[in-house]
Amino acid sequence: MVDKSYRFKIFLGSDGHGGSPVGITHPAFQIKRGDIFDKIRKDQWDWLDEEITKIKMDSPFTHGLYNGDLIEGDGAETRGITNLYPDRIDQCRVAAALINFIDAPINYISKGTPRHTGRVEDWEEAILPLLRSSNNKIQVVFEFDCNGVKINMKHKPPSRSDAALRKAFLANVLLNIRFKDRGACIANIILRSHVHKAIAVCLPGYRFLGIITPALQGIGDGFGARQLDNEPPDFGFVVLYINDINDFTYEFHIAPMDIQRRDIICL
Ligand SMILES: [Fe+2]
Ligand SMILES: [Fe+2]
Repeated sequence: MVDKSYRFKIFLGSDGHGGSPVGITHPAFQIKRGDIFDKIRKDQWDWLDEEITKIKMDSPFTHGLYNGDLIEGDGAETRGITNLYPDRIDQCRVAAALINFIDAPINYISKGTPRHTGRVEDWEEAILPLLRSSNNKIQVVFEFDCNGVKINMKHKPPSRSDAALRKAFLANVLLNIRFKDRGACIANIILRSHVHKAIAVCLPGYRFLGIITPALQGIGDGFGARQLDNEPPDFGFVVLYINDINDFTYEFHIAPMDIQRRDIICL
């Protein structure tokens, strides 16, 4: 853990998919359905709780960044029957419980993938009135200036299906975005999410950092687990520490794979 006091200590999380059986779920919303996900959900929250408690021992977060897919949506492919909470307002309550738990005084939420967050309405907007903090905003793309450090945040990077290719590709994309607009630097820190797999590209000499965040949703049954032994998602979050243009860093907090494991059946 970064052992230094920074002017900005920012929680960065995404893809909590509130309402999904394997989305990050505050204990107040942990209902038991008697399947393997009961334990996975509890283990996910217990891990998060422990990590956040440690991180906040020195100082609280100054800001919270939530980079999209905060709710699971109507689950069109499964008619919503697999969701723990099918109703989108309930899903927003689950999402708000996470943000209230992290407890940053200022929160920015970028809008997620329409398949999850609404093709016509922006369902995630219903999260705002449920937050304890009064300084919150939701929009598609954010550009921040953090004491001279420019941050660009939106939910979705370009993606590819093959996992290894995607990681290499994302690294390239992050580097290219850095020099977009005829070589001008659009940001010192570029934040993307959506793919549920974490990667960071750091060019200290250029004062550049690109991050694809891990997800706050584990592997489920519906789709991911049935695929051809794809990489499992990275479950976790990021903390950004920023003082100024010469002094900023990040920290991944990724849960051990055990918490996404199924029951082992002894024959
Ligand atoms: Fe997602
Ligand atoms: Fe997404």
